[in-house]
Amino acid sequence: MTAPDSPTLRLAIPKGRLVETTLQYLFRANLIDADSVDVGRRLVVPLAGAADRIGMPLELLLLKNADVPTYVEHGVADIGISGTDVLDEQLPDVYRPLTLPYGSCRIAIAAREHVRDEQLRALETLRVATKYPRTARSWFDRQGVSVELIELGGSVELAAALGLSDVIVDLVETGKTLVENHLRVVEVIGVTEVKVIANRALAPDRAAAVDRILLALQEVKP
Ligand code: PRP
Repeated sequence: MTAPDSPTLRLAIPKGRLVETTLQYLFRANLIDADSVDVGRRLVVPLAGAADRIGMPLELLLLKNADVPTYVEHGVADIGISGTDVLDEQLPDVYRPLTLPYGSCRIAIAAREHVRDEQLRALETLRVATKYPRTARSWFDRQGVSVELIELGGSVELAAALGLSDVIVDLVETGKTLVENHLRVVEVIGVTEVKVIANRALAPDRAAAVDRILLALQEVKP
C-alpha cells in the first residue's frame, strides 16, 4: 500500500521504553523543537518547524511498539522507528535504511532465581512465556529443545514469577525488572537494535523528505 497523498510526512515512534530517548534524538537532529520534546499524552504531534529542514511539514505518531511496522507497511506513516525485537517477529515489508545508536538491549531467557539450569534441562517440555514467539521458537528449535509457547502482551516477568511458565524470553536492559521479580538470566540469546524503517512505495517528494530525515539523523553527534 502506498503512503497517503497528504502534504504532511508522518513519522511513527514507539511509546514504550524508547520514547524519551527517541524524542531527544529527534531534537538533537533538529527535527523537533524544544517545546515538542514533551509530548504529554498526545498521539499526534504536528512539527511544522521541520518543514525548513525536510521540505515538508512533519507529524509524529505515538504508537505502541508493536504497531509501528504496521503503520509504516500500510503507508499511513511514511517512516518509523522500531526495535529489531518487533521487526524480527513481524517481518514487515518495509525498508530498514538506518540503525540508530541507542536503545540496544539483550534478549534473554530468564527463570526464577532459585531454579537451577539442571532442573530446567530435566523438563520434557519447557513452558516459555514471551512477547516474541517467533524469536523464542526459532532459538529453542535450533537447540533441539521442546517448548510450549505462551504468548503474552506485557509484564512477561510475572509469568515466570507466578509459575505460568518455567522461563520467559524477554528484553533485558538494566536487569532491574528481573531482580525486582526474583528472576535471573539463564542465557542471553540475542541483542536488539533500533532501526529507522520506511514505506516501500513513497512518492518522489515524500522519498526526498525521508532522505533528508535520514541525513539529519545521521548527522547527530555522538
Ligand atoms: C521491557 C521488557 C522488560 C523490561 C526490561 O518492558 O519487556 O520487562 O523492559 O527492562 P529492565 O531490564 O531495564 O528492567 P516494557 O517496559 O517495554 O513493558 P512491558 O513488559 O509491559 O512490555
